[in-house]
Amino acid sequence: GDASVVTHALAKDELSKLRDVGTEQVAFRKGLVRLGRLCGYEIVDGRMETEYVEIETPLTTTMGERVKGLDDVVIVNVLRAATPFVEGLLKAFPRARQGVISASRDEAAGMDEDGEFPISIDYVKLPEIRPEDTVIVADPMLATGSTMCAVLEHITTSQTDPETLLTLSAVAAPPGIVRVSSAFPDVDVLTVAIDEKLDDDGFIVPGLGDAGDRAFR
Ligand code: PRP
Repeated sequence: GDASVVTHALAKDELSKLRDVGTEQVAFRKGLVRLGRLCGYEIVDGRMETEYVEIETPLTTTMGERVKGLDDVVIVNVLRAATPFVEGLLKAFPRARQGVISASRDEAAGMDEDGEFPISIDYVKLPEIRPEDTVIVADPMLATGSTMCAVLEHITTSQTDPETLLTLSAVAAPPGIVRVSSAFPDVDVLTVAIDEKLDDDGFIVPGLGDAGDRAFR
């Protein structure tokens, strides 16, 4: 699949605040919401079409423009760090159907020699995915790609293929991008930033720390 970067300057601005170690819990969570909204707008700009529709203003009839496909959006929330991010995405896609997947890295087991983590999936609730859908799998961090691959595996084996399946992250490390795009060639990877590397513990560097911890505790 395609790997692309969110280019809106305000997205870069929000991400820089999220990276800052001095950004405390409330500001971090709100920043993730704002970033999600901006990413949603960028997805609309880059991937969705508009159509002309006749509308009536209080004074006259005129042509208006409407975004096509807003009723065919599914957002998958990869618990738990994606929750505020998804809240922002919903501002751009208010009528999206939502799915939830609880997937987490087994940090105790650690990263194996292939740079992968064992992933446990504890809870899955997805809406029915239809062929015309744009499915956005949101997780602020794409590190080794282990979580995202497990989630995509689950979605693609249990459901029909949607027209567009894309992953959305705030920060992504090169190994994770490579892993997701090679395992799922039809999936587009969208991220606000591509960071330098993973450290020995599988954390994104420079990154933003552990997004789940920073947003929730
Ligand atoms: C973090 C992050 C991603 C995952 C990325 O979640 O939110 O889901 O790790 O790493 P990967 O690409 O190497 O799989 P974590 O497992 O810490 O769970 P949490 O969101 O509940 O904190």
